[in-house]
Amino acid sequence: MGQTRFFFTAAKADAERLFPAFEAEFEEDGLPLARVELDETAGIDEISLYVDGDPGDTETRIKKILRALDAPQDLSRENLPDVDWVARSLEGLKPVRAGRFFVHGGHDRHRRRIGDISIEIEAGLAFGTGHHGTTAGCLETIEKVVRREHPRSALDLGAGSAVLAIAIAKMAHIPVLATDIDPVATKVAAENVRLNGVPALVRTATAPGFHHPVFSLAGPFDLIVANILARPLMQLAPQMARHVTPGGSLILSGILERQRDAVLAAYSAQHFRHVRTLPREGWVTLHLKR
Ligand SMILES: C[S@@+](CC[C@H](N)C(=O)[O-])C[C@H]1O[C@@H](n2cnc3c(N)ncnc32)[C@H](O)[C@@H]1O
Repeated sequence: MGQTRFFFTAAKADAERLFPAFEAEFEEDGLPLARVELDETAGIDEISLYVDGDPGDTETRIKKILRALDAPQDLSRENLPDVDWVARSLEGLKPVRAGRFFVHGGHDRHRRRIGDISIEIEAGLAFGTGHHGTTAGCLETIEKVVRREHPRSALDLGAGSAVLAIAIAKMAHIPVLATDIDPVATKVAAENVRLNGVPALVRTATAPGFHHPVFSLAGPFDLIVANILARPLMQLAPQMARHVTPGGSLILSGILERQRDAVLAAYSAQHFRHVRTLPREGWVTLHLKR
């Protein structure tokens, strides 16, 4: 049996009230919870609870909290594929080369060549096996930036599988913070970090955008990589500016070609200058400096 996600939307003020009640109820069971801003303008959040295996009476318990706190009862659920199923489907996928990086599953370990910086990623529930144009674009740009600029610290925001954070740690041997809004992704990221032998360098945390004290503790960063989507990237521009060191670099991806100019405008308003655009499969990866 795979994983079930229970989720519902709520006005921001309600979500703020409900989330701690869910944390208190499900803390002992160790069930991952996530709160995501679905629509910033309308002030709508989504709260999700993930259950591995048989969900038992989880639905009844969630509804009880909603009733007790006088919240709407429209709870949704979806079944997520279990990790083993996804891992099996990866066995057919070929390893990926991007610059010096070689991203592969365990079954292709023997294909590593001398000089490769190899990253082993088993498919999990988190995005990032290197096959997507945005991930490959980031890997190629990371190689160039690390080689030329020798950053001393880095942030991978929206780390997914942590493929980019692991790439930076393995190439530059510097501390990297890897964060994701999704606690399931963070769990997979931490496993991949261990698998690749870089737990002393890569720290993982669950955080929406820059909402977590860890950013001030670990930052500012000489290099920030964020492969999320154009809209959240534009919203995050002022905070990116605050968390990158003067002269530091930003690598942004998850941007469609037609969205490039809007993203560049949002970042030039924060005094970032465009260094390079790398197009791949309809997506672009941007390198910016401040
Ligand atoms: C396209 S995947 C990129 C994964 C990996 N970095 C890569 O390049 O292959 C985007 C990731 O960003 C996360 N994400 C989306 N919005 C976010 C936000 N506002 N804050 C933090 N993470 C976010 C998603 O959960 C997802 O894991």
